[in-house]
Amino acid sequence: GGDSLALTPPMGWNSWNKFGCNVSETMIKDMVDAMVESGMRDAGYEYVVIDDCWQVGRDSLGNIIPDPERFPSGMSALADYIHAQGLKFGIYSCAGSKTCQDRPGSRGYQFQDARTYASWGVDYLKYDWCYDEGQDAHAAYKTMSDALKECGRPIVFSICEWGESEPWKWGKEVGHLWRTTADIRDCYQCTFDWGGLGVLDIIDKQVDLWKYAGPGHWNDPDMLEVGNGGMTVDEYKTHFSMWAMMAAPLMAGNDIREMDASTKEILTNNDVIGVNQDVKGEQARKFMDMGEYEIWAKPLSNGEVAVCFLNRSNFEWNLDYDWSKQTMYFVKDVSIRKNVYKVYDLWEHKEVGKTNEKLKKTIPPHGVLMVRLHL
Ligand code: GLA
Repeated sequence: GGDSLALTPPMGWNSWNKFGCNVSETMIKDMVDAMVESGMRDAGYEYVVIDDCWQVGRDSLGNIIPDPERFPSGMSALADYIHAQGLKFGIYSCAGSKTCQDRPGSRGYQFQDARTYASWGVDYLKYDWCYDEGQDAHAAYKTMSDALKECGRPIVFSICEWGESEPWKWGKEVGHLWRTTADIRDCYQCTFDWGGLGVLDIIDKQVDLWKYAGPGHWNDPDMLEVGNGGMTVDEYKTHFSMWAMMAAPLMAGNDIREMDASTKEILTNNDVIGVNQDVKGEQARKFMDMGEYEIWAKPLSNGEVAVCFLNRSNFEWNLDYDWSKQTMYFVKDVSIRKNVYKVYDLWEHKEVGKTNEKLKKTIPPHGVLMVRLHL
């Protein structure tokens, strides 16, 4: 943080969740074309990020070498292609000597790598934490942060140390976003031995982090799995809605070239994206926890507020909600007692009532009702 980059949560696309190490310039260029044609770019997705496995070694001067078979035209040419479409170019490295996929990391080469990225036209760096070799995380990320500040090009810095050293406490001075957890998995509720997390587990780990987020510095609960096939449409709507509520970076992780209609509807929902990108930059707080049912609120600019009813259960939630009984005490500009607000459903795209009447809705299992209160 500390500059004017990422004043709203970064939006874009990243290769990892769908493609892993199978990255190439052909695929990335196709994805760029698809982002334009599908309306993703116009919906706000901006950064096109190549994750791990683009790099194969270093030359005798220590310069990082992109895979010549997979990126035969070189990274500058790819950056030009991306920029010509009005998009921005992101790349990946690691604070250790190797990346998580055993490619060369940036340890010992931070300033050289930053200058190389700047010469290519890189706009965004995701910086991982494998092979950390006992370094202090704050110090290691500060070194690359300093390198990026001196490289002569504004570069958004994405800290990816999985929340291990509480980056929310130091990330604001060092970068623009920081991962808060282990890697997301394409599932609603699941646990993996190695620490991968489903959507609900990730949400649970964000509850107390709202105070650390704001314009230019964001908690990052990891990239989106919407469209990758492991969840139902309602679960993906929940995933996307809650990421929007939490002012999370919205990095799509699916194959944009072959999105089905429901995936496209979710990822390009302008009403939900508007909540995520609201200039106030506040992260939602959970203000009601009834076990299987939760209610979250995100204060917005113009004295409005987004409210998300989250049904974690396997059954329908027959909501019969009395706004007047609520104290959204932390939403300073919103007074349910003084004003009557209209209630706008952000998935149905229509008004569904007012705050002086009860809100009656059936929320599907694992689903959400996401609304915006406005005058
Ligand atoms: C780590 C990160 C992931 C991804 C992989 C790539 O697991 O958390 O997001 O970048 O490395 O190897």
